[in-house]
Amino acid sequence: MKSSEEIKQIVSTLTLEEKASLCSGLTFWFTKDIPEKGIPKIMVSDGPVGLRKQDLKGDHLGMNDSIKAVCFPAGVGMAATFNKELYKEMGEALGEECRAEDVAVILGPAVNIKRSPLCGRNFEYLSEDPFVASEMSTSYIKGVQSKHVGTSIKHFAVNNMETRRFSASSNLSERAFREIYLAAFEGPIRNAKPWTVMCSYNRINGELASENKYLLTDILRHEWGFEGNVVSDWGAVSNRAKALTNGLNLEMPTSYGENDRELVKAVEEGKLDEKILDANVESLLKLIFEGYDNIGNSSEFVFDRDKHHDLAAEIAAETFVLLKNEENTLPLKKDAKIAVIGAYAKTPRYQGGGSAHINCHKIVGFLDACKENGLSNISYAQGFSGTADDFSEALCEEAVNNAKDADVALIFAGLPDIFESEGYDRKHMQMPKCQLKVIEEVSKAAKKVVIVLHNGSPIEMPFADKADAILECYLGGQAVGKAQFDVIFGDKSPSGRLAETFPIKLEDNPSYLNFPGTLNNVNYCEDIFVGYRYYDKKKMNVLFPFGFGLSYSEFRYDNLKISKDEINAGDELNVSVDITNIGNTESKEVVQLYVKNCTTPVLRPIREIKGFDKVNLKPGETKTVTFTLNKRSFAYYEEKISDWYVPAGEYEIEIGKNSRDIVLSKSVNIKSEPILPDHYDYNSIMEDLLNDPRIKDIVMRYCSAMAPESREKSEIEKESMNEEMEYASFMYSPLRSGLYFSEGKILYDKIDELLEEINKIVAKDN
Ligand code: BGC
Repeated sequence: MKSSEEIKQIVSTLTLEEKASLCSGLTFWFTKDIPEKGIPKIMVSDGPVGLRKQDLKGDHLGMNDSIKAVCFPAGVGMAATFNKELYKEMGEALGEECRAEDVAVILGPAVNIKRSPLCGRNFEYLSEDPFVASEMSTSYIKGVQSKHVGTSIKHFAVNNMETRRFSASSNLSERAFREIYLAAFEGPIRNAKPWTVMCSYNRINGELASENKYLLTDILRHEWGFEGNVVSDWGAVSNRAKALTNGLNLEMPTSYGENDRELVKAVEEGKLDEKILDANVESLLKLIFEGYDNIGNSSEFVFDRDKHHDLAAEIAAETFVLLKNEENTLPLKKDAKIAVIGAYAKTPRYQGGGSAHINCHKIVGFLDACKENGLSNISYAQGFSGTADDFSEALCEEAVNNAKDADVALIFAGLPDIFESEGYDRKHMQMPKCQLKVIEEVSKAAKKVVIVLHNGSPIEMPFADKADAILECYLGGQAVGKAQFDVIFGDKSPSGRLAETFPIKLEDNPSYLNFPGTLNNVNYCEDIFVGYRYYDKKKMNVLFPFGFGLSYSEFRYDNLKISKDEINAGDELNVSVDITNIGNTESKEVVQLYVKNCTTPVLRPIREIKGFDKVNLKPGETKTVTFTLNKRSFAYYEEKISDWYVPAGEYEIEIGKNSRDIVLSKSVNIKSEPILPDHYDYNSIMEDLLNDPRIKDIVMRYCSAMAPESREKSEIEKESMNEEMEYASFMYSPLRSGLYFSEGKILYDKIDELLEEINKIVAKDN
C-alpha cells in the first residue's frame, strides 16, 4: 500500500501524457502500468458468479475461452435464497479464487432492477425489489472484499434492458429513480463500500451514465460518500473529457490511445483543468496499489475447484423455489419408478450467456447425480431438444411411453440458451412450443407429473394447473444436478422464495406498454409501481407472488412484538416474531417483514418489503427473529423537498409468507412534521390554506368576510348541491375566487393584503 503522500509524489513525476494514459485500460482486462515510475498494472475480470479470467483474447460477450473455473448459481437464484450469509460465503469463495489467480477486482454484483421479465440479463440480476437487491448484494461485496479483492457493483444505473443498450435513454421521475432504481445501489455502496462502481451504457433522462455528473458526482460521491473509483462498462465512454470531469475515473477496456490523446488535447486547449486529471490519477493509483498488494502475495489461497464445486451444490439447493406440491408429490422416494424426461436432465441449462459465462471445470446434471447415487429404477427420455424449438414426434412418443410405465414423470424443462442472454431482450415469456407439447402429452399419460424448471426469468406456465409439482431451479450453476437430487429426494427441503413476481402473462406486467420503448427512448411510465408494488396495488391475480415458495415442512408464526406503538419519524423500531417448525422435516423458512402504509395521501404501494431473514428449524423448534426498522423503512422520496420523508400516521408492520399472504401484523403510529408550503399566491386553493395551521385563523377571518349575507337555500339549490359538492366547490377554489364568493366585496387589493400577511409567516427563513 502506498500512502496518499507517496501517491501524490508519484503523480508529480508523471508527464501529462502519462497521466492521461492511466485513465484507460492497457488491454481488455488490465489497467496501464508505467514500470519506470513504479506503477504496476492490475487485472480485473468478470463476474459475478464465477471467475471469467480470460487467458487468450478478451471479449465482453463470453465468446472466447477463459480459465476453467466454478460456476455458482446465477444472481436470480442467489436472490431467491434470501440468505445473506450464504451469498457472503459465495463472495468469500470468489474472493479466494481471485486471490489465487491474481485478479484484483471481480466485476459484480449486478443489481439492476427487474423492471420487465423480458430483460435479457434478468438471470444475472437479483430482484424486482430494491431492498432485496440491496441487502443481498451488500453481503456479496462484503464476502469478496473480506479477501482483499475489489468488487464492481454494476450497471450504474437504470440499465434494465439490453435493447439498444448503448443509446437508449431510460426516462423516469426523480422519485422512481431514487426509490426503485438507485436504492438497489445505495445500500451496498454506503454499507459495503465496493472498491469500484461500474457505470452503465445507457442514458438516464437523456444523459449518458458515463458522463452523468448528477449520477456519478452529486449523488454517488457527495450524497452517498463513495470514495472508490467509477469504471466504465466496457466501451461505455463517448466524450472522455466530459466523463472525467463528471466523475468517471477509469475507462475500460483500452481505447488504443485514442481517448488518452483526447484528454491531453483537452488539457492543452484549456478545456480540462489538469488538477482534475491529477486528482483522478491519484484516485486510480490508490486502487491500483491496493489491488497490486496481493499480487504474488497470495500463497495461502488456492483455487480449489472441487471444494468450490461442493459449495456451489450446497448453495444451489437453497436457490430452488418449490412453486407447487399437490398431495406432497415431492419429495420422491428413491425406490419409486421414475420416468426422467427432458434434455436438461442430462445436459442442464445452468448458467446465462454473455459476460457472465463461465468455462466450468465440471458439470453435474440430474442424471449424473442419480448415477453417482446408484439409483437404478429410472428411465430417461430426451423428449425435446434442449437448444432449439424443434418438435420431434419420435422423442415425444418415447417420453410418453416411459411415463406410462412409471409412478411419476419428472420433466426437466425450461428456456434454451438462445431464449435469454446479454445483448438482447426476450420478445415473449413463453417456453419453447416443443417442450409445452411434450409436457401436455406426458401429462395425459403419467400418473403424476413433476416439472423441474431451468430458466433465468419468469415464464408463462400453461401447465401450472395440471402439474402435480413444480420446482423452479432457475440457473443453478455447475453443480445443479447434485442439488436437484438432494431436493427432489428429500435430503434437503427447498427453501428458496421468489425475489420477483411471476405474472400470469406478459401483458400483465406494468412495463408492458413501455418495453423496450421507442427507438432510443424508454419511458418508465409505471413509475415506482414495479413488480409486486403494481400487482398488489391493482389487486391483480398473478401466477406466483413475490416472496412465494413452499417447503417440505410447515411453519407457525406467533408473538409479533414491536418496541413501541408510537414513534417519531426517524426513530428506530424493533420488531420480533417467533417462528416454529410445525412439520416433520428440518427446513429453512424465510421470514419476510413488510411495511404497509395506511395514511398518506401520496400515491404509495400497498406494502413494501423492509426486512427478511432466513432461519433453519428442526421439527418442533422455535426461533425468535428480530428486525430493526429505521427512517427509510417508512419513507418515500418526496420530490418537493428532494429528500426522504415519513408522513405522519398509521403504518402496519406485517409478517408475511409472501406479499400476498400476511400472517401477523401490528400497527405503529408515527409522528412527523408536515411538509408545508413556503409561499402562497392567487392560485393557492382554500383547502391548502385552511389546512395550514400557521395561517388557518387568518384565512378563516378572510373567509368570513367573503361570505355573502346568510339566507335560506332555495329548493333548487338544495336539490342540486349535496354536501360533498358544496365542500368541493369552496375548498378546491383558488384564493382569487374570493372575488366571486363575496359577490364583489373582496377585490384584489384585499387578496394582496392577505397574501402579504400570510407569506410573511410561512416564508422559509421564518
Ligand atoms: C458487460 C459487463 C461486463 C463487461 C466486461 C460488458 O459488456 O455489460 O457486465 O462486466 O462487459 O466483460
